[in-house]
Amino acid sequence: MGDKIFYITTPIYYANAPLHIGHAYSTVAADVAKRWQALRGREVFMLTGMDEHGEKIYRSALKDGVEPQDWVDRYADDARKLWSFMNIAYDGFVRTTDSAHKKTVEEVFRKLRAKGDIYDAEYEGPYCVSCETFFTDQQVKDAGDSCPDCGKKITEIKKESALFFRLSAYGDKLLDFYKANPDFLQPSGMANKTMDTVRRGLKDLCVTRERVTWGIPVPGDPSKTIYVWFDALLNYLSAAGFPADPELFSKLWPADCHIVGKEIYYFHTVIWPAMIMALELPLPQKVYGHGWWTLRDDKISKSTGNIVTPYEVCGKLHPDILRFFFLREMPFGTDGAFSLERIEARYISDLANPLGNLFKRTEVMIEKYFAGKTPAEGSFDAAILQKQKETLESFSRSMDELRFHGALNALWELVDAANRFIEDKKPWVMYKEKSPALNDVLLTLEGCLEFVTGLLSPFMPVKCAEMAAHIDWEIQMPEPGAVRKGRSIPGGGILFPAVEK
Ligand code: MSP
Repeated sequence: MGDKIFYITTPIYYANAPLHIGHAYSTVAADVAKRWQALRGREVFMLTGMDEHGEKIYRSALKDGVEPQDWVDRYADDARKLWSFMNIAYDGFVRTTDSAHKKTVEEVFRKLRAKGDIYDAEYEGPYCVSCETFFTDQQVKDAGDSCPDCGKKITEIKKESALFFRLSAYGDKLLDFYKANPDFLQPSGMANKTMDTVRRGLKDLCVTRERVTWGIPVPGDPSKTIYVWFDALLNYLSAAGFPADPELFSKLWPADCHIVGKEIYYFHTVIWPAMIMALELPLPQKVYGHGWWTLRDDKISKSTGNIVTPYEVCGKLHPDILRFFFLREMPFGTDGAFSLERIEARYISDLANPLGNLFKRTEVMIEKYFAGKTPAEGSFDAAILQKQKETLESFSRSMDELRFHGALNALWELVDAANRFIEDKKPWVMYKEKSPALNDVLLTLEGCLEFVTGLLSPFMPVKCAEMAAHIDWEIQMPEPGAVRKGRSIPGGGILFPAVEK
């Protein structure tokens, strides 16, 4: 792979409402995947950003009596604050109103038009402003005369002169691509629907709007603006330096993974790859569609009116706990119910009890039996070494495939094994009996603290830094069986205190 940087992206979020835990979920997932690759020693780049054009945003700004640019500036600021609150270490923050992004979109538009992949025609038909999606009359009829995706009222676009992207020409090429690259559509459960849709035949896509002014004007035809999804999808290229910075682009592209919610999977697995094919660029390695957090069976969303923000959730809990909960509670790709009670239950069952206790007990024993230093002699327990090796293998495989849930399950098996090891070995008896094997037990336990802290650090970067400080260790990729003899273990306060009621 040489210089290829691991490049992972989140969706770019609409700048028209406060971001909630749904948006935080995708962003945390990308951040964790990126931090994991960095821990393995790869150079990494995580991109997030804001989708700032289109009718929906224009209408929201107008309703509030604010200039659209001021409106989107405000949401971009809010997003940056939220990501910093959530300890997201993004490397790029793209905004579709950035001039560099606009240049990319114009250039792509010109190129595809010159090639004949974008052509002149007329458009009329149903449009959902909330999803910024064109539909056919039949789709809308089947959905009871409302939006087939969000259920909202449909707008009728009256006949207007428009430009179309020749999506229909890419159906067979897409099917061939999916077949040759079985890892592209992830998780596999979402692949079939996409393939069926493509097999049924694709229609050309209208990529301009005539009566929408808040967007990038069509080059050479300022009476039209470029369709917001066509504009937005290109963020993944513009932020990677296409076409302005070929050197950067060659290091970043193709993207390793686009993380998206399942409601925008079609855009990313059909329209987006077809656009890239039209540009004759290599395709991304994978698009991963994840499920939704729900409240009383409804998707958490602004339109349902049931949003919960990370700030509300983290009143009493560290943001790292929410990060952990997101990826521990439900497999990446399925839906799950969100509630404070569930977060607190996870906190107690996984963090405060097994992990917090493992730290506390080990620190206390090292303090009491060895005056606060790891034993100067001894060796690592063979059974725990074997367990660590197995854990590392299964954890790494799961993380590489974005199966965060599987990775954490594997890690918690090790936490449980380390706690059982204390029960089985009874170090307090060994101490009384002056058994030399006590050295091995405590060296092994301290090794387990390092091991867990290292692997957990992509999920909980701040809490893991605290854990690392307890054992005076620098976070790095842990090695099974590593021992640190005769080292001070400073310990510290309670890592996962009881939640105040
Ligand atoms: N702007 C488009 C994306 C363009 S990408 C080129 C968009 N924005 S959005 O603000 O509506 O954000 C949608 C994304 O937020 C989803 O794809 C998903 O990643 C996340 N989520 C929003 N609500 C969610 C849940 N209730 N649960 C989980 N994730 C959800 O669509």
